Amino acid sequence: MELLIRNGTIITAKERFMADIAVNEGKIALLGRDLQIEANRTVDAAGKLVLPGAIDAHTHLAMPFGGTVSADGYQSGTRAAACGGVTTVFDYPIQRRGGTILELIASKKAICEQEACVDYAFHCCITDLNDGAILSEMAQAVAEGITSFKCFLVYKKEGMMVDDATLTLLLLRAKELGAIINVHAENPDLIDLNTRRFLAEGKTSAWYHYLSRPEFVEAEADKRAVHWATHLNAPLYLVHMADKEGLEACVHAKESGAEVYVETCPQYLEYTCDVYKRPDGRNFVCSPPMKGEESRLALWHALNTGFIDTVATDHCPFQSYEKDWGRDDFTKIPNGCAGVENLYPYMLDAANTGKITFEKAVEVCATNPARIFGCREKGSLAVGKDADIVIYDPNKDFTISVENMHSNYDHTIWEGKRLHGYPVQTYLRGQLVYNNGAYVGAPGQGRFVKRVPGERN
Ligand code: URP
Ligand code: ZN
Ligand code: ZN
Repeated sequence: MELLIRNGTIITAKERFMADIAVNEGKIALLGRDLQIEANRTVDAAGKLVLPGAIDAHTHLAMPFGGTVSADGYQSGTRAAACGGVTTVFDYPIQRRGGTILELIASKKAICEQEACVDYAFHCCITDLNDGAILSEMAQAVAEGITSFKCFLVYKKEGMMVDDATLTLLLLRAKELGAIINVHAENPDLIDLNTRRFLAEGKTSAWYHYLSRPEFVEAEADKRAVHWATHLNAPLYLVHMADKEGLEACVHAKESGAEVYVETCPQYLEYTCDVYKRPDGRNFVCSPPMKGEESRLALWHALNTGFIDTVATDHCPFQSYEKDWGRDDFTKIPNGCAGVENLYPYMLDAANTGKITFEKAVEVCATNPARIFGCREKGSLAVGKDADIVIYDPNKDFTISVENMHSNYDHTIWEGKRLHGYPVQTYLRGQLVYNNGAYVGAPGQGRFVKRVPGERN
């Protein structure tokens, strides 16, 4: 055997138990008490929790946006992922209007082959059907293992938005192919109207980013997406849910049997729109913005009652000087914040301090994203699965700072956040890639996760 992890408490989405894990050829080979076997490396995990590597189902690496490119590329973003216990990231390559998606995917794969420090998959963002050519290309993309696509109901001026007819065609085509459509839901016309008014009135601080796209602006688009998906009987995955009213529409649709999945992010669980009143409010500017306390509490409640399926990060950091472009005009702030290295530690801290269970943290950060997006070999600790393993010390205290992160950004919205418990080791298919604060893997070690259509539930 390559690796034996002894005496740990294994956590799955359903249960916890004491067991040893033996790994061979990158897979979990055996799971049981007191395994009497020889291994090249033996690790004593007594007093520690042993968890499946997390899957961050929402990152934007090297993404051109807001007049610049997000600060983490494929190497630094996936290095940070490894150091936060994330062993698979989903990136969102964005189709250039009129461009092909197959070439886009091929170009991203070529970069990741050289640079990725953890395994990777893509949800391909479609901005334009290109006279229907994209609907044909989708079949090839699915055959290549890209079984999820995204569209924006927002970012109209940026040329990334799709209209309702395009959304409809995408939902139907995805259903036909056994794929799924992910949607960023906000209403662009209301945002533009509010923005024009605020700028005309000289209201330019980060607070007006929130006020230009408050709860009901997100809720309208959430409900519209759910409406289409429900009536077309097509699967839908709503990304970065941040508002109570939209969430309630999803809960209602789920209860009525619609195949609607809901993702939220740590920033919506932790912060409220009050952050936009801070002097550094622009650093928290992302879309959708953080909402009021009622929404924040509704998200925690939905997490505990099973109506939130996944927690992912929307990792899309920008440097301080770029955020500063919007010091006097919130519309010039590149939208997005850091998070990939904080996802699992944050959710596990929530478990360690009693807000959720450890099983729930594993479910929403690993098992559910693997299930919803068809990552057969990932997402749980079971014989035959990839040996993507995190060893977590529930007694290690950690304070997040830009100084102890492994990304390329120069600030983080998580600065000063104290966590009780922290990952101490990450294994990617049995290879140690993170050890007690240090990245110890090699760029290029990550592999493409080829997914299988129709594999959900
Ligand atoms: O503000 C954000 N979320 N930036 C990244 C792009 C997106 O909308 O997900
Ligand atoms: Zn988005
Ligand atoms: Zn995003």
